[in-house]
Amino acid sequence: MFNFNRIFLNQQKSDNKDKETEKKNIPKHVAIICDGNGRWAKQRGLPRSFGHKAGVKPMKCITQECARTGVKILTLFAFSTENWKRDRNEVDFLMKLFVDFFREWREEIRSKGIQFHHIGLKENLPEDLLYEIELTEKVTMNNNQMIVNVALNYGGRQEVVNAVQAIAKDVQYGKLMQDDINEDTIHNYLYTKGQDDPDILIRTSGEFRVSNFLLWQLAKTQIWTTQVLWPDFKSEHLQKAFECYQPYRTI
Ligand code: IPE
Ligand code: IPE
Ligand code: MG
Repeated sequence: MFNFNRIFLNQQKSDNKDKETEKKNIPKHVAIICDGNGRWAKQRGLPRSFGHKAGVKPMKCITQECARTGVKILTLFAFSTENWKRDRNEVDFLMKLFVDFFREWREEIRSKGIQFHHIGLKENLPEDLLYEIELTEKVTMNNNQMIVNVALNYGGRQEVVNAVQAIAKDVQYGKLMQDDINEDTIHNYLYTKGQDDPDILIRTSGEFRVSNFLLWQLAKTQIWTTQVLWPDFKSEHLQKAFECYQPYRTI
């Protein structure tokens, strides 16, 4: 005779195992190049600014989804050092959009235990934006559920140049011995000091370029790309990326 209880229990065991596997494969640090806002707007016959505006929602949703699934660090690429070369109106629009974004987002992340870090150069950022960034960093500094880094006025090469300059200064003033410089030293002079490197890099909109993002930190990172444009990127797409994620193993 069939033992339905046993079948049920076995099924439950296997469901639990699936959940465990799912949990195990959650990357600790997720980095995302949030690309395709302009094309999203173009497809709809709208100005590029509409795409940027539509790109705000996924920044909030994906942060929430990462916190929910147990990701420890999320790094979002929002504006590169190269993006200043864009049309003046587009750059001005983006700077204002970021100001509004931080004002709206601050309380949401603060109340969810998320710690915010700006990564990139503070120079050249409009004063009102810098104020919002610094206030967001300040009010979330004691949070410990997850870290969210927003790369804004960020360039990977610029980050390395800054690190080299700071290291050279510390050697000059005797704080550091030249022969003691190793990979950990470099890590300690980057914006992501103290954070594990990204496990997975997601790029939306079907591009395969690294575009000067986290050049040092991505050395061992798995890359996952999707045709989905950033304003359309949702939790289900993040889950797809996680399904493909394989923890790094040295052979
Ligand atoms: C990404 O979308 C947002 C920023 C770089 C600020 P894009 O503006 O690069 O959109 P596409 O690549 O032109 O579609
Ligand atoms: C990379 O996207 C930077 C951000 C998403 C902020 P871009 O659209 O600026 O990159 P390229 O120019 O296509 O390499
Ligand atoms: Mg782009």
